[in-house]
Amino acid sequence: MLKAYPELKAIVFDRPQIIEAAKSYWNDKITADILTRIDFQAGDMFESLPAASNNDLFVFSAIFHCLSDEACTSVLNNLKTAIGTHQSYVLFADAVAEETHIDPTIAAFDMQMLIGTMGRERTPSEWKRLLNNAGFEIVAIMNVRTFAKFIIAKLY
Ligand SMILES: C[S@@+](CC[C@H](N)C(=O)[O-])C[C@H]1O[C@@H](n2cnc3c(N)ncnc32)[C@H](O)[C@@H]1O
Repeated sequence: MLKAYPELKAIVFDRPQIIEAAKSYWNDKITADILTRIDFQAGDMFESLPAASNNDLFVFSAIFHCLSDEACTSVLNNLKTAIGTHQSYVLFADAVAEETHIDPTIAAFDMQMLIGTMGRERTPSEWKRLLNNAGFEIVAIMNVRTFAKFIIAKLY
């Protein structure tokens, strides 16, 4: 995204040890121009998230399927605080399971997430309930060229 859009800046947010590893990993893999547009921030999403400006996009890639509904709600509450009164969108890149007759691959991921991290793959109605209960509405669910989809949401 940063390569395609030269005016774009990004914050990469993760736990401290991962941020240190990410900085040294990307150091010689991307151009200096792109590197200077990335702000590597260490933190804990269960405590707080970086504050938004208008038109910021928060991207959670393969995060929510690692989490129980309770843990997701805790992150969503911090996201609400981070967004504040700004116009920000949120992109969740995660699987969306069928409401019935679940695809075996998604079912296997679902079991893996449950066993590994108490997470789960969610159906559209489960995503809707989770997000609505935290004050977010789904704007779109987009198909992309992976097993995951892009779930786009914003605050009500
Ligand atoms: C399944 S990985 C997804 C990584 C990446 N977003 C991707 O799409 O490949 C989950 C990420 O969440 C990070 N993470 C776990 N707990 C966290 C926390 N409390 N605060 C911030 N990041 C956390 C992990 O370090 C890991 O990088």
